[in-house]
Amino acid sequence: MTHFGPVDVIAIDGPSGTGKSSVARAVARELGWRYLDTGAMYRALTWAVLRAQAPVSEAAEVARRISVSIGTDSSAEDIAVDGEHVEAEIRSPEVTAAVSAVSAVPQVRSLLVEAQRSLIGDGQIVVEGRDIATVVVPDARLKIYLTADADVRAARRAREVGAQAAEVAEVANALRRRDGFDSSREASPLRPALHAVVVDTSAMSQSEVVEHIVSLARLVVS
Ligand code: DC
Repeated sequence: MTHFGPVDVIAIDGPSGTGKSSVARAVARELGWRYLDTGAMYRALTWAVLRAQAPVSEAAEVARRISVSIGTDSSAEDIAVDGEHVEAEIRSPEVTAAVSAVSAVPQVRSLLVEAQRSLIGDGQIVVEGRDIATVVVPDARLKIYLTADADVRAARRAREVGAQAAEVAEVANALRRRDGFDSSREASPLRPALHAVVVDTSAMSQSEVVEHIVSLARLVVS
């Protein structure tokens, strides 16, 4: 990627339960751009680590051994490990519980960041994750940091996974644990990038958030 100045990338970072994935996908669709869910890549690797029954300390070796392919079409989720589709598997509670530890391994991050940069290529893409604006594409044209109150995020996440009333507290605790871990790890912790536009989605509907980001995008993208 040879370029001078900002690239046509919209980076969307933030913790879980902010509606990040649905928002990022919808923004890409509105703009006719591609879409990359980097969390899905960490999840696919975590699935492979669990399948290999490898310890987290060997996650980077597993990453080097396998091939993860991910589509960047905003209208369909498409992710495979060595040709095997894992769209459903990577959303399992087992993967969700293990993914923070795997994604905290520095060698894992450098391998996946390299893969992400090559998928991003010349841009025209909305990229969603935790370190997109801080590490992966610091010269992204627009950097969005989505947040929401912890209780709102827990409720959204519980709805997403179809939790029963009695399980909501457990979902909230798991979410807080994962966010605490993602924010306090040494390698590329979750935090807003310099000059990121922080959008608090607590009191916003999904379409309001999408509209807001698309209108910001239209200001900076030709
Ligand atoms: O967005 P998600 O919940 O699918 O992400 C799964 C995990 O992957 C999350 O706990 C943190 C990690 N992740 C990361 O460390 N860096 C990214 N760019 C994306 C996700």
